[in-house]
Amino acid sequence: MAAAPVPSGTEAYSKLYFPSTDGLLRLGDVVPNFEANTTHGKIVFHDWLDGKWAILFSHPDDFTPVCTTEIGRMALKYDSFKAKGVKVVALSCNDISSHNVWLKDVVAHCDNKIGIDFPMIADPTREIAIKFGMLDPTNKDTGSMPLTARSVFIIGPDKKLKLSINYPASVGRNMDEIERVVDALMLSWEKSIATPANWPHNHKDQGMEGWVFLLPTVTKDDADKHFPKHKELDMPSGKPYMRLTPSGQ
Ligand code: BEZ
Repeated sequence: MAAAPVPSGTEAYSKLYFPSTDGLLRLGDVVPNFEANTTHGKIVFHDWLDGKWAILFSHPDDFTPVCTTEIGRMALKYDSFKAKGVKVVALSCNDISSHNVWLKDVVAHCDNKIGIDFPMIADPTREIAIKFGMLDPTNKDTGSMPLTARSVFIIGPDKKLKLSINYPASVGRNMDEIERVVDALMLSWEKSIATPANWPHNHKDQGMEGWVFLLPTVTKDDADKHFPKHKELDMPSGKPYMRLTPSGQ
């Protein structure tokens, strides 16, 4: 017999499923607030978020090759994020004067075809990196200080953490993937849906490319009422859990 469910939001629930007290940021937490100097002036993070979707992404260090390419790729994507109403801010544990010199290199590396139109936070004391759990115990700078991982935090309009990714210093991020997950999160925020693997390039062979799943919590009545075009896939188990619907519905 299955154990009785522990109600969410209770202490027992937290203890059972999230017993660690390490203080790390978890999905659904309101992200920490902080004041910082950035290449675009001082910010108070929660005010800067301004009720919008936002991406905060960190770099191991200024004047490093992989980071130089990442900032350039993000600069190329920035207009696309801006058009979706998504704010972008980078962070590196160096001071503003270092950032400003480095960002000129980034622009030159992109053949002077970009501007860096999003701010970069200066966190030389690592105070913000520590608050967000960005520090990587396996990589240190020349002064033996831990470097920040390549962290990505996607924050919702409610200031809550919706998604986080941590890459080691050795692996550069794919900005197309970051845009893909932002699109998926925004869609899921608006509707009771979840995106399949490789969305929006999913279920092509069944003629349902880009279709999305109804959440398991959507009842049959609500599915029929709100998602009239949805289709249930036949599964060997006979269970009706693979409910696809066009993403625009
Ligand atoms: C880089 O961005 O290239 C990098 C930074 C720190 C360690 C390794 C690579």
